[in-house]
Amino acid sequence: MKHLITLKDITTDEFHDILKLTEKLKYENKNGITHHLLKGKTLGMIFAKSSTRTRISFEVGMYQLGGHALFLNTNDIQLGRGESIYDTANVLSRFIDGIMIRTFDQKDVEDLAKYGQIPVINGLTDLTHPCQALTDMFTIYEEKGKLEGLKLCYVGDGNNMTHSLLFACAHAGMDMSVATPKGFECDPQIVEDALAMAKKSGSKLVFTNDPQEAAAGADAVYTDTWVSMGQEREKAEKVKKFDGFQVNKELMAHAAPDAIFLHCLPAYRGYEVSADVIDSPCSKVFDEAENRLHTQKAVMAMLMGQQN
Ligand code: CP
Ligand code: NVA
Repeated sequence: MKHLITLKDITTDEFHDILKLTEKLKYENKNGITHHLLKGKTLGMIFAKSSTRTRISFEVGMYQLGGHALFLNTNDIQLGRGESIYDTANVLSRFIDGIMIRTFDQKDVEDLAKYGQIPVINGLTDLTHPCQALTDMFTIYEEKGKLEGLKLCYVGDGNNMTHSLLFACAHAGMDMSVATPKGFECDPQIVEDALAMAKKSGSKLVFTNDPQEAAAGADAVYTDTWVSMGQEREKAEKVKKFDGFQVNKELMAHAAPDAIFLHCLPAYRGYEVSADVIDSPCSKVFDEAENRLHTQKAVMAMLMGQQN
C-alpha cells in the first residue's frame, strides 16, 4: 500500500490489516502505551474544505505517533492561487513525509500521488471518503464482533460517504442496501466497481428508492448530511426532495432489534436524522468519531512507518 486514495485501490488483505492495527493501537492508547512509530516524521494536511474531525484526528494522531502535522489551508498556500498540483507535489515531497488532502476533485488527489514521491491520504473529496468508511467498519466490528455477513443500510444522499461505504462493505463481506431519493443515486461508475468487488467477496449490494426496504433487518443504519460541502446553494431543493428519507424511530423499527445507528458527522438533527435516534443508546456516533483517530494512526503507520 503506497497511498490511500480510494478503498477500491487497496486489497482486501490491506483492508483487514488496517482494521487489525487499528484495534491494537486503540488498545495500547487506552492502556497508556505510547508507540512512536512516526518519530521525526511530518504530515502536511491540505484543506480546501472545512473540517473538525479529520483535521483534529490527523493532527493528534501524528502527535501520538511521535511526529508532527502541518495544517495547510488552500487559502494560505500557493495551490489556492493557481500553483499546479505537479509543482506542489514535488515541492512538498522535498520537505515532508506524507500528505493528507481534503478537496473537491478526486483527480487532484490522484495527481498529488502521481507526481509526488511521498504517500498521499484522501481526507475527503466530492467522490469518496475512505478514512471515514474504514473507521465505520472498525466501529461496527467493535460493536458486533464481526463484519462478514452483517447488513449495513444507508439512507439519504448517494454521496462520497455512500461510495466509500460500498467499497468497504465489499471488502468486509458485508451486505449493503442503499436507499436514495430518485435523482440522488450513487455515481454509476462507483456502483459498477463496487458490484465487481462484491461479486468476488460475496457481499450483496442493493440499490433502491425505498428506505424501509433498505432498513429491513439491518445491523447498522447509516446516514449523512443531505447537503455536502460545496452544495450549500442546493439546500432548499434537497430538503424538499429528501422528504421521507430521514432516519427516525419509525425507520429504525424496520432494522434488527439490536441495530446501531452511525453518522460520519456533522449531523443536522431534524433533517437526515431525528434527535430521538442520534441521541439514543443505539447511536454510536461519538465512538465512531473517536475511532477516526485510531484508524488513521494505523493508516499513517502503514504508509509512513519504518517499513516504508
Ligand atoms: N466526518 C468528517 O470527516 O468530519 P469533518 O468534516 O469534521 O472532518
Ligand atoms: N458528505 C459530507 C461528508 C462530511 C464529512 C460532505 O462531503 O460534506
